[in-house]
Amino acid sequence: MRTIAVLNQKGGVGKTTSTVNMAAGLARMGNKVALIDMDPQAHLTIHLGINPDTAGPGIYEVLTKSADINETLTEVRENLFLLGANINLVGAESELVSVVGREIILREAIETIRDDYDYLIIDCAPSLGLLTLNALAAVNEVFIPLQPHFLALQGFGKLLQTVSLVSKRINPALKITGILFCMYDKRATLSAEVKADVENFLENARETNTPWSGAAIIPVLVRRNIKLAEAPSYGQTIFEYEPDCNGSYDYVAIAEYVHNKMTKDGKHMKLSTEEIEVPESILPVVEEIAEETIEEQPVAEVISEDSTQAVAEVEQTAEETVTRIQRTPPQTVKIPIVEVPAPPVVSTNTTSEIEDVVSKDLNSGNTTS
Ligand SMILES: Nc1ncnc2c1ncn2[C@@H]1O[C@H](COP(=O)(O)OP(=O)(O)OP(=O)(O)O)[C@@H](O)[C@H]1O
Ligand SMILES: [Mg+2]
Repeated sequence: MRTIAVLNQKGGVGKTTSTVNMAAGLARMGNKVALIDMDPQAHLTIHLGINPDTAGPGIYEVLTKSADINETLTEVRENLFLLGANINLVGAESELVSVVGREIILREAIETIRDDYDYLIIDCAPSLGLLTLNALAAVNEVFIPLQPHFLALQGFGKLLQTVSLVSKRINPALKITGILFCMYDKRATLSAEVKADVENFLENARETNTPWSGAAIIPVLVRRNIKLAEAPSYGQTIFEYEPDCNGSYDYVAIAEYVHNKMTKDGKHMKLSTEEIEVPESILPVVEEIAEETIEEQPVAEVISEDSTQAVAEVEQTAEETVTRIQRTPPQTVKIPIVEVPAPPVVSTNTTSEIEDVVSKDLNSGNTTS
């Protein structure tokens, strides 16, 4: 079983979107995939259409009540199993604060399912608290989603330090294997600059003894796509919500890359910076052309040429655009089907404990980055 934590303590970078759709892509390829929602916000659970308030036992019960992970994992789609988050997960960090070995509870729990699944993928919370520590102790691989904008790499050092620390003290098998660019805009210079920075950093780390020496950017850059943002409010994966869109194509390509171009221990078979060309969905292209047609032919200009033919053409284009818009599924976000739990309450004890260790390590020059 390949075990992957999708992690970045920065919020809103695409962790949950990537976890759901990469996992659904892998499941569609015939792999048996287990998912764990390690975020008290329960976004992964909600994204899959499950109400966290009525979902029954999940990761909270596994961590705090020794619930059997085998019985708790629930099949939510063909080949896709979920250990969901419920509202109780908010209190897990403080409840576990005095438990000895609290950072390896998940690692011990998943031992019994190692032979039953092809993939275990964990959606982490945007924090470096005890829940994230449990995820890092349990997996062999970390995927880091990044949104290539200003300050994208702020906090990246801290993230690397944490992984480095966990790999030294708790889980020597832990490696960062993939960097996933999400909401990538190929036309923006900033996107290319951030990507080049990350490439240089990884290249320089190749010969080092760090947990990210074998990491590489997954060469499928996930484009910004409104359908990916709409799918969660319908409780659907992108393949269910809109199979013919760039978001869908990108996550199919990512699943294929992860399964076919990486080895079972997360090594990239070919370390190259060459991007994989993913086909364009025709839907956004059609929309873009319609918009350009209207922009390039302002009605006033055409009328000044006194051409009734041109006016008729513009009117027809406008009519076609209106018809197309009417045919397009509503873009408005449906009112969420469930109440979203309160934001996570991070145990200050745990966080400051990790921070202490990180800063001590830094001060003693022990860190490897
Ligand atoms: N490629 C994309 N194009 C457009 N919107 C996207 C894309 N990827 C993610 N989003 C949207 O961006 C927002 C943040 O994404 P997501 O929830 O996956 O991030 P996250 O890192 O899990 O956030 P958190 O830190 O809160 O858990 C969501 O509204 C999501 O629907
Ligand atoms: Mg999330």
